Amino acid sequence: MACLRDLAGPYSLAGGGAPALAPGLSDRAAVIPACRPSSLGDPGFLRAHGLKYAYVGGSMANGISSTRLAEALGRAGMLGFYGAAGQHLEEIEKAIDRLRDADHPYGFNLIHSPSDPALEAAVVDLYLCRGVRLIEASAYINLTLPLIRFRTAGIRLNAAGAIETPNRVIGKISRTEVANRFFSPPEEKYLKELVSRGELTAEQAGLAAKIPVAEDVTAEADSGGHTDNRPLVNLLPTIITLRDRLQRRYAYASGLRVGAGGGIATPEAAAAAFMMGAAYLVTGSVNQACVESGTSDAVKKLLAAAEQADVAMAAAADMFEMGVKVQILKRGTMFAMRANKLHEYYRAYNCFDELPSETRAVLERDCFRAPFEEIWRGTREFFLRRDPAQAERADRDPKHKMALVFRWYLSQSSRWPLAGDESRKLDYQIWCGPSMGAFNEWAKGSFLEEPEARDAVTVAYNLLAGAAALTRLHALRCQGVSVDPRLARQEPRTREQLAPYFE
Ligand SMILES: Cc1cc2nc3c(=O)[nH]c(=O)nc-3n(C[C@H](O)[C@H](O)[C@H](O)COP(=O)(O)O)c2cc1C
Repeated sequence: MACLRDLAGPYSLAGGGAPALAPGLSDRAAVIPACRPSSLGDPGFLRAHGLKYAYVGGSMANGISSTRLAEALGRAGMLGFYGAAGQHLEEIEKAIDRLRDADHPYGFNLIHSPSDPALEAAVVDLYLCRGVRLIEASAYINLTLPLIRFRTAGIRLNAAGAIETPNRVIGKISRTEVANRFFSPPEEKYLKELVSRGELTAEQAGLAAKIPVAEDVTAEADSGGHTDNRPLVNLLPTIITLRDRLQRRYAYASGLRVGAGGGIATPEAAAAAFMMGAAYLVTGSVNQACVESGTSDAVKKLLAAAEQADVAMAAAADMFEMGVKVQILKRGTMFAMRANKLHEYYRAYNCFDELPSETRAVLERDCFRAPFEEIWRGTREFFLRRDPAQAERADRDPKHKMALVFRWYLSQSSRWPLAGDESRKLDYQIWCGPSMGAFNEWAKGSFLEEPEARDAVTVAYNLLAGAAALTRLHALRCQGVSVDPRLARQEPRTREQLAPYFE
């Protein structure tokens, strides 16, 4: 047991079963190679981003992945992304002010906003102007001019004649065609546009045509929030194969890497992802339940009680009309049922007045807690300030008006849990994947059962150290050694207990 837990040294297992340090291995039954947390993943990823560990805390909207979370992971040699989606520009700017002088790596989210392209462009302006150098780009189908502008700004040849890009992108995808776009050079139409706007010189555009939009792409399987619910065991190999194909086609100097996210919250899942070739891990749901996350204590308690089947897909606020869904916590709330009903009504009726009167009354009582028209007045004012075309369209089209009011409920229901609004507990929209239940099951009976004891670095240490130990155990199995299943159990350990493996 000690030989598997002490991750540093190579051991051999003597024929009698007693572990021994191995100078000569020939007469031994099996060899257990060393595996430290810092050896997991792709060393190129660690070098490119100045990290010690191939572990990333993914962006979580509305500042749920807070500056505090990014700082905690960054100081521990990992990478955390600030959750800029859904935040006002002033909030994002404050987060940049807090992180920009940090002496550790960090990044910001850039989320594709098809319904508000001006916002996406403004966020990129802010990042460029305030020196944000690394983004996690997500929710893209086609890439956009602002994204390419971020990636290519400042591109140059260094003294050795190599292409240097001050700005880097980690693309997050769950579909091959989107991975293809991230791993390919920027489309010519965007480079031409940037040259014609004077944002790139022709020479810079020529250099930009030789680099991928993203050297790193995260294959995001079944996760909290927006997800295609793909199994990681299928998605990851597909994206790795695509990466190899595109690397052969473009022969990039720097190489391409694929990370794994979605479903990773136990040592076993972490070990499996690395063993399948993930360059790095991305976690989300489990970090939301940690002390550094920007959500309320009430949410952290609900998350800590979640089991694996306590998640469901519910209608999303953005892209509501298209029927897009997000994965959320079902247990303890009625949000999934109410949100999905709203989508059903939207599909079935042309305006709110067409709904049966009892249904209207129930919605006004439970979801809106106000008359429909009152919610509409506030929503209309909001859109007149933010996006007048929406309000004008709704004035002409009662179905659109109904959609905007329904979307009011869906967007407020993300705010209530952040504020810990007890009166709206049944309407909490908490993005969460099945990994949360897997983590809770693993942590059951240990100090990590309590939300107050969950800090993101202790969680990360456990996943990485556990993955390293399981990798060693796997090496034994591969040599035909029958392993006692109790050896495979990676008990939750405190940060102090794990510190020796992270020095
Ligand atoms: C509460 C929550 C909010 C999220 N918000 C975003 C977001 O704004 N942008 C983004 O790229 N990913 C977002 N994600 C996805 C995470 O960054 C991460 O990729 C995902 O959670 C990993 O899967 P897991 O939930 O199984 O750990 C969110 C996830 C959660 C749980």
